[in-house]
Amino acid sequence: MAADGLKVLMISSEIVPFAKTGGLGDMVSALSLALERLGLDVRVVLPRYYSVDPAGLRPVVGPLGVPTGLGEVWCAASEAPLPGGNVPVYFLDHEGLYGRDGIYGTRQEPDYRDNAARFAVLCRGALQLAKALRWTPDVVHAHDWPAALAPVYLNSVEGARFPRTGSVLTIHNLGYQGVYGRDQFAHLGLPWELYHGAGFEFYGSLNLLQAGIRAADLLTTVSPTHALEIQTPEYGWFMDGLLRHRASDLFGVLNGIDYDVWDPENDPHIPAPFSERDLSGKALAKAALQEEMGLPVEPGVPLVGMVSRLVDQKGVGELCGPTHGSLYQICSHMALQVVILGTGESWCESELQSLASRLPNLRVVLQFSERLAHLIEAGSDFILMPSRYEPCGLNQMYSLRYGTLPIVRRTGGLADTVESYDEATGAGTGFLFDQLTPRAIYDTVGWAVWAYFNRPEQVDAMRRRGMRLRFSWEDSAAHYAELYQWAVDRRLGRTPRTW
Ligand code: ADP
Ligand code: GLC
Repeated sequence: MAADGLKVLMISSEIVPFAKTGGLGDMVSALSLALERLGLDVRVVLPRYYSVDPAGLRPVVGPLGVPTGLGEVWCAASEAPLPGGNVPVYFLDHEGLYGRDGIYGTRQEPDYRDNAARFAVLCRGALQLAKALRWTPDVVHAHDWPAALAPVYLNSVEGARFPRTGSVLTIHNLGYQGVYGRDQFAHLGLPWELYHGAGFEFYGSLNLLQAGIRAADLLTTVSPTHALEIQTPEYGWFMDGLLRHRASDLFGVLNGIDYDVWDPENDPHIPAPFSERDLSGKALAKAALQEEMGLPVEPGVPLVGMVSRLVDQKGVGELCGPTHGSLYQICSHMALQVVILGTGESWCESELQSLASRLPNLRVVLQFSERLAHLIEAGSDFILMPSRYEPCGLNQMYSLRYGTLPIVRRTGGLADTVESYDEATGAGTGFLFDQLTPRAIYDTVGWAVWAYFNRPEQVDAMRRRGMRLRFSWEDSAAHYAELYQWAVDRRLGRTPRTW
């Protein structure tokens, strides 16, 4: 079977522009559109949270009965096309499970206590919906722990109905695994012997991702370097042994970025367009950012931006600290300005806010703002990503496109997309460091600022070099199409699975 026409059911908890907390939403949207352009028949299913506006959704099929361990749950289903193409996005509606503002939780309750049940209904409901639509996917592509049950259902209670459907599970973030009390297993609608037999048991708790990793025909993560990293104890989050066991089924496929959304020549969020041939619009973006942040409008002062979920993964612990965190040292010793946009865990938010109250050249905006994210990518000279781990990372690719040089830790997708500056030759596209310590962050920001003042021609050449790079979705989508094909072949050649 050629990939062209292959039917792919994406199951995800996020998709831009309907629901997003981070890069997952961008990735699922851009990949789906790129696959559609390659001729695949892609459809996406996610819950209808309150944040998804029902206006513009078209009801499809009748009430959908979704089996769970505690009886049937009835959902409504509606549909909207994914902007930028014709990929249908189906929303499962259930007031009790999804009628809330949060995707995974709220500030007070970051992980809703019924998340195992909520996302079990997403996975089983997506398969029920496919049946109701009389559309049998060749492949189910599940994203992260919220969709990890789908391959398990395909291998067990839904196996007879979907005997030829292969499964691919993409790990976007191994740090989140969907771990709940074992009592939650009762909601999943699976026989008890699968609690151990399908690998749900995890140190006495229920682990949804672990079972998904065992069940999926193929596994991917979002950069080649991270595919190797997660097989080590340092980055494996207790899954490294299992991932080494499945190493021959595990692939690293680098995310692309959506160049229609992130295009400095055509961006409604910045004051003037710019390109690598003419960077004058970038200077206007910098001035607009400084002005909006209440910072002195100084074209010659280096501006370091950061747009991030504010969580430990992103190195916030090393940035903060009243006197020994790198941010305090950087802002008090260097002639620069720092602007941070983010939302996240309350300890990160309050540490950053407290630093900002004491440092006149630091601004912290605790909001989720698409507009400001674009202005920061465009108006900054450097973008900082001191990640503890970074499966792919999208911001460094956005910033390269906007002539903003990444200052990043050499890990995961950051290592795969940023080439370190070489003072001797002027080569490179950014500034890399290895150890995640306040000192290393301080030194590397210092190195970038040194280059800004002392090697301006090299910095300018690096900016333009970065702007010419293309992390296009076309190649990555073609790679996924190949993997789908392979997953189907695997499934067809396989004897029925016994656990
Ligand atoms: P992750 O998925 O781990 O959060 P990525 O770099 O892959 O990291 O993606 C982060 C995405 O979320 C980017 O599109 C970034 O611009 C966006 N983002 C993060 N925080 C904010 C925020 N406060 N406001 C607007 N966009 C944000
Ligand atoms: C995750 C990762 C990030 C990646 C994104 C999209 O949230 O933390 O590195 O870019 O997923 O795949």
